[in-house]
Amino acid sequence: MLQGRRVLLAVTGGVAAYKSAILARRLVEAGAEVKVILTDSAREFIGAQTFAAITGGQPFTTLFGETSVSPHTDLARWCEVAIVAPATASTIGRVANGISSDLVSATLLTTRSPVLIAPAMHTEMWEHPATQRNINTLERDGYLLIGPASGALAGGDVGIGRVVEPEEIVEAVEAMLSPDDSTLRVLVTAGGTREPLDPVRYLGNRSSGKMGHAIADEAARRGFTVTLVTAADLSALPTVKVVAVETADEMLDAVSGEDADVAIMAAAVADFRPSKSSEGKISRADGLDSIELSPTPDVLASVVARDERPFVVGFAAETEGVERAIEKAVVKKVDLLVYNDVTEPGSGFESNTNRVVLIDGEGQTEPWPMMSKQEVASLLLDRIVGDLAARA
Ligand code: CTP
Repeated sequence: MLQGRRVLLAVTGGVAAYKSAILARRLVEAGAEVKVILTDSAREFIGAQTFAAITGGQPFTTLFGETSVSPHTDLARWCEVAIVAPATASTIGRVANGISSDLVSATLLTTRSPVLIAPAMHTEMWEHPATQRNINTLERDGYLLIGPASGALAGGDVGIGRVVEPEEIVEAVEAMLSPDDSTLRVLVTAGGTREPLDPVRYLGNRSSGKMGHAIADEAARRGFTVTLVTAADLSALPTVKVVAVETADEMLDAVSGEDADVAIMAAAVADFRPSKSSEGKISRADGLDSIELSPTPDVLASVVARDERPFVVGFAAETEGVERAIEKAVVKKVDLLVYNDVTEPGSGFESNTNRVVLIDGEGQTEPWPMMSKQEVASLLLDRIVGDLAARA
């Protein structure tokens, strides 16, 4: 059911646009409040009045000249989910490349809500490397793709490129907006903590925080309630609650205050901190023979020890091979451990890519190929949601 949910339907120019009238009808029947954008090309195939009659409101057709001064930001903020059906190769190309030249692409670039894209085009266009490149980009950027299906195409051709049926799209939207998802509380830690030695210097590590931030953003795109406790100076999507911390102690404090169903501990927490942090800057003339260190709290262990223990995912950046990580997964009693070898090119701290091995609580391993940190985030969330569903 989509009772009261705010759904934006963008219809772009293809013969399958007629099916979007049925899609709009199905969404309304499911209880959704539906607003429609029609591109100029879409109106070559189907009239605005059809959608007005089905949804009870006039479709939006242009970036300029509407009654609102900024229809794309209004629609982007209004919707809880956006659908593009049918999505033509040109709209896909614009969105994949961030070209906001029409109302559909400008709205999709602005919205922070999840977007479902249902491509429809001739087989040759679908299979063209440019289209496939753009589709890969959209998937990497967190858009959800549905179809295309195979079957009859425009002009009597047959092949892959048919838009999926309206009922299937409604099901996908229901899954995207399911109440379970919006209430799933995801806690993510990210970045490398900094342990002060004096007001100027600290002990730190080379973690960039990119992996943890990618996970938090991806979880937010899926509609989860996300808290990100981060020691990294990186941005996050506006729907993510960000708690900025510096030290392991601060991270423990921040994490302790957050209830969660899933805890993804991607931070590189310092294991030791200087026992004393000098109030004034330590000068060269004073000399410093050694730094006494004390252990920091184990943030992950504190989450594992909770009475209401969330699903816990640990990370292990190692230099000595996977065996140590397998042992760590079992000893730390995590549900999943994401291992990566930081000495491998393209898998290190500041890299945008990662090659990881997923290890479950029993020490079973699943190696994943090299991929972007966003793709790792997406697959990891798929896996967590799958494991939670299997338990339920
Ligand atoms: N972790 C944590 N708090 C710490 C240390 C680690 O929450 N003080 C978490 C990390 O975020 C990570 C997991 O524990 O998810 C494993 O971190 P790692 O540094 O590999 O484990 P350690 O127990 O510190 O083991 P070692 O440094 O000896 O490899």
